[in-house]
Amino acid sequence: MTTDAPIPLVDLRAAHAEVAEDVRAGFDRILATGGYIKGPVVAGFEADYAAFCGARHCVGAANGTDALELALRALDLPPGGGVVLPANTFVATAEAVLRAGLRPVLADADPEHLLLDPARAAEALPGAVALLPVHLAGQLAPMGPLLDLAGELPVVEDAAQSQGARQHGRACWGRIAATSFYPGKNLGAYGDAGAVVTDDDDLAGAVRLIGDHGSEQKYVHERFGFNSRLDALQAVVLRAKLLRLPAWNEARRSAAARYHELLDGVGGLRLPATLPGNEHVWHLYTVRIERGRGEVLAALRAAGIGAGVHYPVPLHLQPAFRDLGHGEGSFPVTERAARELLTLPLYPQITPAQQARVAEILTKALTKA
Ligand SMILES: Cc1ncc(COP(=O)(O)O)c(C=O)c1O
Repeated sequence: MTTDAPIPLVDLRAAHAEVAEDVRAGFDRILATGGYIKGPVVAGFEADYAAFCGARHCVGAANGTDALELALRALDLPPGGGVVLPANTFVATAEAVLRAGLRPVLADADPEHLLLDPARAAEALPGAVALLPVHLAGQLAPMGPLLDLAGELPVVEDAAQSQGARQHGRACWGRIAATSFYPGKNLGAYGDAGAVVTDDDDLAGAVRLIGDHGSEQKYVHERFGFNSRLDALQAVVLRAKLLRLPAWNEARRSAAARYHELLDGVGGLRLPATLPGNEHVWHLYTVRIERGRGEVLAALRAAGIGAGVHYPVPLHLQPAFRDLGHGEGSFPVTERAARELLTLPLYPQITPAQQARVAEILTKALTKA
């Protein structure tokens, strides 16, 4: 049975309902002690998340953009060096590179999966100092070919959208990875939060130092740093949610399979593809609409369906990145994706009835578009 109740793009209240008791109890313990910064809950979450990723270390940060900057700074790359990253990403990937005193070098996506294309990355790589693939929408970029290309160059992973995702059974592939716990992510905090994950003891130590004013001992500042720590209250939320993340990611996979069934063969629509070897966690379920995306989006929204576009204007065509010197036509796959992509509501608690309604309205809108 379908109803006309609005269907959000993500439903954070439904996720909260599942962890509410744990979160309240954890908050009460923090409030009773006053230990808001650092402390056992932060250390506990860091250990849990490192284990979840199969990595030796996790270091919390204030948000995902900071986490990427910290990862890049920890590598001590030559100032102004080029870092190859996909044009098809959220703006934060390039912001972190610039903030770390490095230079974004963009490369286009592959037309099938819209992830960093190794062939395009190879063209961009000569002279660069690092490679920064982005695991977009819930699946890993093709890490085998990208690591081969990088050779001795460090590979830094933007894993903001891929918590729990694996490729050939493995979550972490590069020297260091950064993630975001922005509320809408698969593992989301109740505010901003992020983390860096690595097997490298020295890099983990450097990240921790830089993110804590370059200081291990109070008022002794060993190197340039700033303040980017994970709050204890956010660690409470993240610990409670991490326990549910495997089941939530499984629910996302079931929901994605259901959309595939409901939408298979619908004219004018291209469904998202999974790269072979990938265990997808469906952070976003994005379809492509060759003609009439605007009308379809308007029809969904008019029906109370929270569809979105990730991302409507590519990085290289944003006013803030004009200085990179890329005009229209520089990255055709990314530009086409920006015109065609449409993100449908998907979250662990979405019901089959809600998905049937999304599919029905979408199918109707497509026949009119
Ligand atoms: C691909 C990607 N990289 C980086 C970030 C930055 O994370 P934050 O918003 O936590 O700074 C995000 C999320 O917003 C993202 O989606």
